[in-house]
Amino acid sequence: MHMRSEPVALIDPRKTSLLPEPAAPRDLISIQDLTPAEILALFNLTSMLKQRPADYRGVLSGKQMVMFFEKPSLRTRLTFEAGMDSLGGSTFFVDQTASRLNARESLYDIAHNLERWIDLIVLRTFSHATVEEMATYAAVPVINALSELEHPCQALADFFTLQEHFGDLSRIHFAYVGDGNNMAHSLLLAGASLGAKVSIATPERYGLNPVIVTMAEAIADKTKASLRIMTDPRKAVTGADAVYTDAWASMGHEQEAEERAAIFAPYQVNAALMQFAKPSALFMHCLPAHRGCEVTDQVIDSLNSVVFDQAENRLHIQKAILVWLLGGGVGRFPARSTHA
Ligand code: CP
Ligand code: NVA
Repeated sequence: MHMRSEPVALIDPRKTSLLPEPAAPRDLISIQDLTPAEILALFNLTSMLKQRPADYRGVLSGKQMVMFFEKPSLRTRLTFEAGMDSLGGSTFFVDQTASRLNARESLYDIAHNLERWIDLIVLRTFSHATVEEMATYAAVPVINALSELEHPCQALADFFTLQEHFGDLSRIHFAYVGDGNNMAHSLLLAGASLGAKVSIATPERYGLNPVIVTMAEAIADKTKASLRIMTDPRKAVTGADAVYTDAWASMGHEQEAEERAAIFAPYQVNAALMQFAKPSALFMHCLPAHRGCEVTDQVIDSLNSVVFDQAENRLHIQKAILVWLLGGGVGRFPARSTHA
């Protein structure tokens, strides 16, 4: 069985590329909002925040963040709230599960209210256009905490987890099997940006959004990443260093669960499928997992499973994103608040 590797050595902030504070408000709506160099710099900042959290207490003191969630959440909500709290900032959570964000008033009007009071907006929505529109209208940074199209914070935490295990991400073979959903899109874009070999297998009917694939291919041309999109889960997983899966029926598609279960059965990540990957291959899942559907207990509970490392790293990566977007520097600059 695979023995978990030790995290990479302590990062020396003097020797690593730092993430400059954005000159103008930046958003994180898609993985594409970050250049490959920015992703690596974000990972360096994440390592420092993870290893020395006390150094960053108070860097976002006086900053305020609002979160509107149209869908349920455990990890995303709590890691954003705990992360902001540990950096000295405050969070306001608005449960938006009863109606869509723009049901009562227009996104334009909401954005121009929020930007007068609050330093940063976090959205979890059904429509990706809702996050994009909010980012267009609001003068403060907007973070996508999951939309139907992408889940960038999760994919960043996942590739940070892979970097902890393998170091150089351009040398890994990352395989994803299952639904061509928001997770698959952000993972494909992240793998392309980081120069990895990425294999994705989905059923024909539940493939990736072709626009995302075209964008990922354009990124891969520059980074020398290798992207393979297919329908055969065994082929995708063969020789992989990490095997990732996600729910067969994402939030908002629960009513299709039974119909999808029959189609997705060959994509279950079980011991037989893991046999095609390297013996040391990691198992990954963003969670929540549907045990007995997309993954068996045997695989998710195995020593090779890093699902809780991924969940932990949501906290650290999002702290880095908040410090970056809100101009907290990396502990070198005093926090500045525009509103508080
Ligand atoms: N992985 C993830 O985003 O989990 P939640 O839906 O619980 O936030
Ligand atoms: N694809 C899943 C991810 C959950 C974190 C969903 O959208 O429900």
